[in-house]
Amino acid sequence: MGSKYKLVPHLASTFAELGGQTALDAFSGSGVVSYLLKSMGYEVTSNDFMNFPSVIATATTVNNSQKLTVADIDRICGPSADDRDFIQQTFDGLYFDQTDREFLDSAWSHIDTMVGYKRSVAISALVLSAARRQPRGVFTFTDASRYNDGRRDLTLTLQEHFREHAVSYNRAVFTNGLRHRAFVGDVYDLPTGYDVVYLDPPYAPPRDDADYMKRYHFLEGLSVYWLDQVIMQNTLTKKIEKKYTPFAYKRTVEEAMRNLFKKFSESTIVLSYSSNAVPDKDTIVALLREVKDDVTVIPIAHTYTFGTHVGATRRGASEYLFVAR
Ligand SMILES: C[S@@+](CC[C@H](N)C(=O)[O-])C[C@H]1O[C@@H](n2cnc3c(N)ncnc32)[C@H](O)[C@@H]1O
Repeated sequence: MGSKYKLVPHLASTFAELGGQTALDAFSGSGVVSYLLKSMGYEVTSNDFMNFPSVIATATTVNNSQKLTVADIDRICGPSADDRDFIQQTFDGLYFDQTDREFLDSAWSHIDTMVGYKRSVAISALVLSAARRQPRGVFTFTDASRYNDGRRDLTLTLQEHFREHAVSYNRAVFTNGLRHRAFVGDVYDLPTGYDVVYLDPPYAPPRDDADYMKRYHFLEGLSVYWLDQVIMQNTLTKKIEKKYTPFAYKRTVEEAMRNLFKKFSESTIVLSYSSNAVPDKDTIVALLREVKDDVTVIPIAHTYTFGTHVGATRRGASEYLFVAR
């Protein structure tokens, strides 16, 4: 949700034009932009207020050299190291089948003993496995059979997914010669002083709110084996309490943006925002002009697809890139 994977070429040419040495990806999500910035030679700071994005950024951007060995992968896929069954107990009948849930508990029994960046690589591969094995990749429903369209991702076991994704994450590991950081925290608590700051906040929809926890609570929980997470036991999906963010609501998003732009007014700001969200383009330009003289808007034609529903496809919805320096 909101991944900038398809926008990477546009972002790459924008960053290339801006130059600079240090970059912040303040709402890192899938981590694809942090990884792009690293590949372009920046010293990267990555941040998100959810934990699993930070684990992914640690595995792919902060990590300059550590990979899972064949023995590591075999061990994680082998017999459990202890008798833990939290996932089997808690999510019985909700997500995946018994074999898959057993695998998640058992994989964690080994990951728990791992240290360093390898641990992040393993958790990232496990999180991606769960995301791919779940129809539509979201955990807002528990009746998976409704959405089973026979895709390969839905026919592999979680263990088979893990073996594949562990290899993919290993392949992503490289160094650009610099040290990088990944934080879990609110954007307003971050240090300042970067040459380039990339901002990709949730898009406040005209109705409802943009709640990442509702969709990804299982991935968030899985990334820490639900340690210190508060599950809302009365919810059908057994979701984790959501984290408040002012960007998710049309009432508060404008002031949230104003404060954000003020905070990073000394950096070149690159902001992604959707034309379907609140506030509109002209309002955002005006907010950026409060702190920056030179503001340009690059419209990007973009097609959002929600699930496999042809009827739910909004064609040509435009995404904007705002560049303020
Ligand atoms: C649109 S997504 C970012 C997508 C990302 N650029 C990518 O390419 O995958 C927005 C992200 O902001 C995070 N977020 C929301 N409010 C936040 C806050 N106040 N501080 C830090 N992160 C926040 C969410 O957890 C979510 O991962």
